[in-house]
Amino acid sequence: MLVVRSTHVTEPMLANTSLSLIVRAGAGVNTIDVNAASRRGIYVSNCPGKNSIAVAELTFALILALDRRIAENVTDLRAGKWNKKEYSKARGLFGRTLGILGYGNIGREVTRRAQAFGMRVVVWSRRFQEPSDPGSGIPDPGVTVVHSPEAVAEQADILSVHLALAADTRDFVGESLLKHLKPGSYVVNTSRAEVVDHTALANAVRNRGIRAALDVFAGEPASSTGEFSDPLLALPGVIGTHHIGASTEQAQEAIAAEAARIVRVYKETGKVPNVVNLATTTPATHVLVVRHRDRPGVLAHVFDHLRAGNLNVQETENIVFEGAEAAIARINLDGKPPAELLQTIARGNADILNLYLVKI
Ligand code: MLT
Repeated sequence: MLVVRSTHVTEPMLANTSLSLIVRAGAGVNTIDVNAASRRGIYVSNCPGKNSIAVAELTFALILALDRRIAENVTDLRAGKWNKKEYSKARGLFGRTLGILGYGNIGREVTRRAQAFGMRVVVWSRRFQEPSDPGSGIPDPGVTVVHSPEAVAEQADILSVHLALAADTRDFVGESLLKHLKPGSYVVNTSRAEVVDHTALANAVRNRGIRAALDVFAGEPASSTGEFSDPLLALPGVIGTHHIGASTEQAQEAIAAEAARIVRVYKETGKVPNVVNLATTTPATHVLVVRHRDRPGVLAHVFDHLRAGNLNVQETENIVFEGAEAAIARINLDGKPPAELLQTIARGNADILNLYLVKI
């Protein structure tokens, strides 16, 4: 088992290991080569929701820092400059519109804080278009759901990005979306750098007075200290933090406890909480249901014949009835076994009570 935070887990690291579980002590799994792990049958698990409040708190720190220009205030004060005239030009948050892209745990926590500040909240999330579970498709009261990211950008005074990094979210906030923002709007990214096209953001800062606050950078070190530079940070109106969104004591403790729970459950039960790399669909087309006496060799007999018939087992489970006299096996197959093969299986072992095939 391997538990990692910022360390990148790459394919060569997995090549000659007997690793069976990688736990990301955080929410995002983009630092792990999940496809390589899946090809080797290694579970990848994460700790979702445990640091959402910490990220939401930093999001608000950045929003306030942009509006009151806290970083610039401090820099000038430290340089011996008093400039109340310049720094009195804040807009204020009350009554402004916060646009949120992505409405997972973090988007929700940001919403609650925005509402406490008297802000209007407009969100776009795929989950409102294709709700996979009914509960996840319900926004908090008072939230305006719109049907495109562009509609969020058009209404927002502040755009806050809370999307997970995936193939379809890379450069999601690009030129075509940024141009829908009003001049002088603020952009906050505490998710992943790759979700925002930094060249397009730099152009928006230079040409349209957009202010930006970033906690994440494409070239950020995987170690906790090191050399770092990013051209965006040289632009007036852009501020940054050191990818510290998830890093409060409370969040670190919650993450550590969740990582330990995952390891313990795996050790004690062989099951892995929060797995992110199991297939949601498989090539299975049929389920073979076998009701049998709970004796050794029954399933070996079934599997031997399936192999002889060149049928690949996808997922399988075997449930034992009370008293452990009988059991039922559900075997997902990547094809339809011919009727003769089913007869051979059924008649070839006296412990098979009956079997039938279901198309899925
Ligand atoms: C997360 O994925 O939860 C955070 O980005 C963790 C981190 O600080 O690296």
